[in-house]
Amino acid sequence: MRIWLNIFLKSFASICMLSVFIFGIPSFADEKSGAHIYKEVCSACHEKGVVNAPKLGDQTAWGKLISEGQVIITAHGYVGVRAMPPRGGKEDLSVEQFSKALNYMVNKSGGNWISPSKSMLEEINKEISIRKKNID
Ligand code: HEC
Repeated sequence: MRIWLNIFLKSFASICMLSVFIFGIPSFADEKSGAHIYKEVCSACHEKGVVNAPKLGDQTAWGKLISEGQVIITAHGYVGVRAMPPRGGKEDLSVEQFSKALNYMVNKSGGNWISPSKSMLEEINKEISIRKKNID
């Protein structure tokens, strides 16, 4: 009897792990931490639109940015634009973390951006270094 119980529990555990893998619970976690970073860092300005920051949920303001594309907007926001401080003022934010928070805002404002793939991340980093050179 015991051996069957063991086999049952082991199969059950594998099925659970497999479904996490297939159905992408990790992407749900991504979404959550984007919301978390947004609240911690970006909401100070983007919640109420301080100094003309595009507001969370403002489809007109975000629509223009969305049409410029994820690579450009992620890179420019990361480096800083006019009153938008580099990395939203949090110096130790990685490109991936910045991108998660940005995607959270974009997706609440009419867009549909997903975590950048490896190749998109390379393009973002390239654009960041071009942009930094132009600023210096
Ligand atoms: C201190 C206030 C402040 C904080 C904090 C802040 N922003 Fe901004 N952000 C702005 C302002 C102001 C603008 C508009 C800049 C302009 O167009 O003049 C802006 C614009 C942007 C843009 C558009 C850039 C472009 O190319 O026009 C992005 C993307 C952005 N913010 C992302 C973020 C993210 C993601 C965070 C959090 C990690 C964040 N911001 C935190 C003030 C802030």
